[in-house]
Amino acid sequence: MKFKLLIALTLGLAATEASAEPFANGNPHAGRPLADKSCNACHVSMFGGDGSKIYTRPDRKVKSAEQLAARIRACNANSGAGWFPEEEAHVAAYLNATYYHFK
Ligand code: HEC
Repeated sequence: MKFKLLIALTLGLAATEASAEPFANGNPHAGRPLADKSCNACHVSMFGGDGSKIYTRPDRKVKSAEQLAARIRACNANSGAGWFPEEEAHVAAYLNATYYHFK
């Protein structure tokens, strides 16, 4: 009985840790230049400034880490950036650390 409780607690803790940083496999410093190069110009043409308003506007579309990953995947494909999954993870880590702050 105690053993089962211990397992449950351990699993719970692991789940909490995993969700504390949803893009722990990405490096924000590697993500920034990728997004600057392949993504910002189009967002700037829509929102002006440095384009970051697309991520910070009050009615932004992305509401979770899963949606952020999906959106980056779709924009990667649509824009022809040609990123590998690791590069998508870097950009996700960068956008999350800078704008979205999903846990
Ligand atoms: C050709 C134009 C274009 C390019 C290039 C582009 N995007 Fe987008 N992006 C859009 C549009 C349009 C939207 C959706 C705006 C809306 O639905 O209101 C969007 C929305 C987003 C959002 C969601 C913002 C929100 O509302 O929370 C993210 C994240 C995003 N783009 C990431 C990227 C990334 C990463 C790249 C580079 C691979 C990229 N975009 C390249 C046009 C572009």
